[in-house]
Amino acid sequence: MRPLAKRIGRLGTETAFEVLARARALEAKGRHIVHLEIGEPDFDTPRAVSAAGIAAIERGETHYTPSAGIPELREAISAYLERARGVRYEPGQVVVTPGAKPIMFYAILALLESGDEAIYPDPGFPIYASMISFAGARGVPLALREERDFVPDLDELRRLVTPRTKLIILNSPHNPTGGILSAEAVREIARIAREHDLWVLSDEIYAELIYEGEHRSIALEEGLLERTIILDGFSKTFAMTGWRLGYGAFPKPLVEAVTKLATNSVSCTATFTQRAGVVAISQRPPEVDRMLAAFRERRDALVRGLNAIEGITCRTPHGAFYVFPNVAGLRAGDAAQVASRILTEAGVAVLAGTAFGAAGEGHLRLSYANSLENLSLAVERIGDWARSARSTPAAAR
Ligand SMILES: Cc1ncc(COP(=O)(O)O)c(C=O)c1O
Repeated sequence: MRPLAKRIGRLGTETAFEVLARARALEAKGRHIVHLEIGEPDFDTPRAVSAAGIAAIERGETHYTPSAGIPELREAISAYLERARGVRYEPGQVVVTPGAKPIMFYAILALLESGDEAIYPDPGFPIYASMISFAGARGVPLALREERDFVPDLDELRRLVTPRTKLIILNSPHNPTGGILSAEAVREIARIAREHDLWVLSDEIYAELIYEGEHRSIALEEGLLERTIILDGFSKTFAMTGWRLGYGAFPKPLVEAVTKLATNSVSCTATFTQRAGVVAISQRPPEVDRMLAAFRERRDALVRGLNAIEGITCRTPHGAFYVFPNVAGLRAGDAAQVASRILTEAGVAVLAGTAFGAAGEGHLRLSYANSLENLSLAVERIGDWARSARSTPAAAR
């Protein structure tokens, strides 16, 4: 058999789906598992949004749409970005996709090739590094450290920029740490992007999920609208992961290329999903604020619970729905070993910090998009496990 294309070997993956599969296999054998691995709201999609999708199906809106999306949704997104973030992207600069992930794919394929470099957050959403190397470019990790509250060191960023750097990827609020870029950091990164003529891919998918502080889009900075792609979507804010609905707002020179990539790959996003999206983004159903209040309560409970376990320290994240505790003090192995043992020995599915890059060593990522009861059960199980792990000498394991 002739071999697969080499580029496939350069693709990474998202460990969350692998851990989910392992957890499901344990469940199939009768184990009870608390799922804190996957990043999706446990709430139902707001009723008015689902109703709009159902009505669209019943009206027969089940056919192809233009590749970049239906005009009503592109207009609603453009209006939302201006209203909520103060940035003006015309409806024609918005490209709608099945989930936000394709925006990473398209932006990176449209911009990067062999010889280019792209700077991305480490730890960070694993698809950034995967897509950069798939495109044949070199990924340059920018470490986000706990002691800096997971905000990048801007001197370090400056040192990473070379004449080959073409793109910098930002994600605030941040997956996996919940960190938020301060207004000063955003201003400084914008200065670096201007000085070195860089494109910026600003992943703002958690922009509505903030508990303290404010989200400031880098596209607001002087000269940055022309070089910033905003990636956003409906999965997290509106509990719509399975609908597959996301979008990018692009500088004009990129729109045609990205639309062509959409035509070549998915043709378009489901029509009824887009109709549901119009209602979600223009009406902001009341469920959204109720979800936010519930996430805050869960975050506080989880952080408190984890900090009470000897060997674990956990900062309070300011956004998204993840905590990124430091578990080095457990002395139970590296992050991957600790995550694996917590799944098999304690029955709680979590991710190793290293699933998000080498700088995630010593940490776990837990999603608090789960009920308070399940979070409390998870803390209890992890606490019991940590106590017994400490009392078992390493040689006996
Ligand atoms: C930082 C970040 N960006 C983008 C996405 C993709 O979301 P979607 O489900 O809309 O493809 C996720 C999903 O986990 C994410 O965490």
